[in-house]
Amino acid sequence: MSNKLNNHIICKTTTAEQTSKIGEMIGGELEPGDIILLKGEMGTGKTTLTQGIGKALKVQSTVNSPTFIILAKHSKSIIPLYHADLFRLTEYENSIELDLIEDSKDGILVIEWPEIAEDIFPERKIEIQLSHASNSNERTIEIQDKYDKYSIVLNKIYNKFKQ
Ligand SMILES: Nc1ncnc2c1ncn2[C@@H]1O[C@H](COP(=O)(O)OP(=O)(O)O)[C@@H](O)[C@H]1O
Ligand SMILES: [Mg+2]
Repeated sequence: MSNKLNNHIICKTTTAEQTSKIGEMIGGELEPGDIILLKGEMGTGKTTLTQGIGKALKVQSTVNSPTFIILAKHSKSIIPLYHADLFRLTEYENSIELDLIEDSKDGILVIEWPEIAEDIFPERKIEIQLSHASNSNERTIEIQDKYDKYSIVLNKIYNKFKQ
């Protein structure tokens, strides 16, 4: 499925490498200040996709799950990559107001488990929903470009990974 503007696609991967590749393709186009929300159950590939983004940005440090530190900054790269995981964030910490957005303006901000802080994110962002599909290695990946500026790469991803 894809609409005329190609700001919304649904595709499918069957290996972690393919999910990483989607991240890499998007990562190659991103600009400082861009925000990417990654939603989906545990093990659907949020970190894997972030690793692909990191590859495109030529991040020198290892991109892994930042669950215990909330925000990992990878600054040895073409553009800084800020990788957050809000899974362990409580409502209380959220109410203190995270400075995530302000602190990451010079780079790309990728958020796993953004739901708890949904209201702090602007309308303009890329939203990616990952889900398990019928086979154990199959993932459905829905990408919405609310910037309306990544239709070319979304079209490429769609053509490569359409269901
Ligand atoms: N199609 C696929 N896409 C992404 N990961 C996959 C896929 N198939 C199998 N996997 C495996 O699923 C796991 C995904 O883990 P991870 O990226 O850490 O997920 P999350 O961050 O969403 O919890 C990895 O062990 C990866 O090898
Ligand atoms: Mg993860």
